[in-house]
Amino acid sequence: MGPISRRDALLLGGLGTAGIVAGGAGLWWTLGSRFTPVPGGEFIEPDGLRSSNGRLQIRLEASPGPVRLGGQQASALGYNEGVPGPTLRLRGGDVLAIELVNSMGVPTNLHVHGLHVSPQGNGDNVFNVVEPGRSFSYEYRLPADHPPGVYWYHPHHHGAVADQIFAGLFGAIIVEDAQPVDVSRERVMVVSDMTLDGSGTVADASPLDRMLGREGELVLVNGQSNPKLSARPGERERWRIVNTCVARYLRLRLDGQQMQLLGMDSGRFPTPGNADEVLLAPGNRADVLVTAVVGDATLSAAYYNRGSMAAMMGPTGPAPNGGQGTGDLVLATLMVSGAPAASPPAVPARPAAADLRTAAVAARRQLTLAVGGMGMGMGMGMMNFTINGRKFNANRTDTTVAAQTVEEWTLINPSPMDHPFHLHVWPMQIVEERGQTPGPPVWRDVVNIPANGQVRVRINFKDFTGRSVYHCHILDHEDRGMMGVIEVR
Ligand code: C2O
Ligand code: CU
Ligand code: CU
Repeated sequence: MGPISRRDALLLGGLGTAGIVAGGAGLWWTLGSRFTPVPGGEFIEPDGLRSSNGRLQIRLEASPGPVRLGGQQASALGYNEGVPGPTLRLRGGDVLAIELVNSMGVPTNLHVHGLHVSPQGNGDNVFNVVEPGRSFSYEYRLPADHPPGVYWYHPHHHGAVADQIFAGLFGAIIVEDAQPVDVSRERVMVVSDMTLDGSGTVADASPLDRMLGREGELVLVNGQSNPKLSARPGERERWRIVNTCVARYLRLRLDGQQMQLLGMDSGRFPTPGNADEVLLAPGNRADVLVTAVVGDATLSAAYYNRGSMAAMMGPTGPAPNGGQGTGDLVLATLMVSGAPAASPPAVPARPAAADLRTAAVAARRQLTLAVGGMGMGMGMGMMNFTINGRKFNANRTDTTVAAQTVEEWTLINPSPMDHPFHLHVWPMQIVEERGQTPGPPVWRDVVNIPANGQVRVRINFKDFTGRSVYHCHILDHEDRGMMGVIEVR
């Protein structure tokens, strides 16, 4: 077990650290010199790559190296030397071919989060491992009717997912609308969090962080700290926002401006709805329209209470956000001035989303996401993160589903902290949340299961067979075993 940080020691308070620190070395690690970001640069888009003639073929190299983060020189991981990696723009029916080159000293692989593509062979197969110095050619075939929206890619090598994403390996994928939405400009905003030490090196997560889910001290948009965006009043922008944070929830606000939500994940509303606040659990994405109003506004993340382990660790148990307080975080600043723009045309209406609430259900299941096994005085390594009582085992199939059927899953969380549940390949429709059924259909690929709560979803297992996974998208929990294997056949 690694050294305990001063922050953790403070958070553990009266619990007593004796049971937690196995060795004695490095108990009082001081924070020493800290990384100080330089906020306020001009907003920069990640590089964009677009498919042509139905195909996008790229080489994606994962490597350690110097990158610009928070306006400073840092050393992190990146795809093609960028944090984030390039934005991949596709259309329904396209083939995305990626040669993943592993130039790191540790194994990795690639996952296209949210894309409805085959999990088999060299498709979206997270059981593949790409060893150091090796490469692998992935090929993803999008169905012609693939839902438009915001998706992303990241490593998925079990045990190393949180570390590799936290260090900079992520990028956005956009599936374009068949009928474009008229906007003045589109911006991709990949939000990440990270902790860097005084020398600009990614900090190791403490054992406690790995249990609660680490939250980085820096919250960045496209690797920048509080970048500045400008627009003219009346202009309509489209913001594609991705929450790549390992464990941090983003309760986004843009006070003083007009935000409308086109959709979340692969789910798209028939018409955009006004939104004062958009909650993105780790892994979620939002497709947002902003109609600029004169003045300055901040895109901020308000505090979200995702529970704590207090109930399991005693009254002084730590808060999962690492004790970083409950204030708002500023992600970006929008400055609106100049001559007013003509008002934009109406957004083309989309057909109503599919609704499985009237579908015949072939099977009903319960999946329980639990945290347990820790006794006071035992090490935190004893804490188990399980689904239906079992830790992940790649060789075991936990859930076997008949292809071409609709299932209903009740996702149960008896633990005192939220778990964002994610299923690969097949999107989920929320049919009951907090005892209520939503109005229009709500589709997500990450569904938050609140502490001591449950959510019911329905899934249509049409058109792809094969083995894949579901897991908690607090990626420290996933790495600790809160993941199961599904096989559709
Ligand atoms: Cu975004 Cu299985 O992950
Ligand atoms: Cu995924
Ligand atoms: Cu979790």
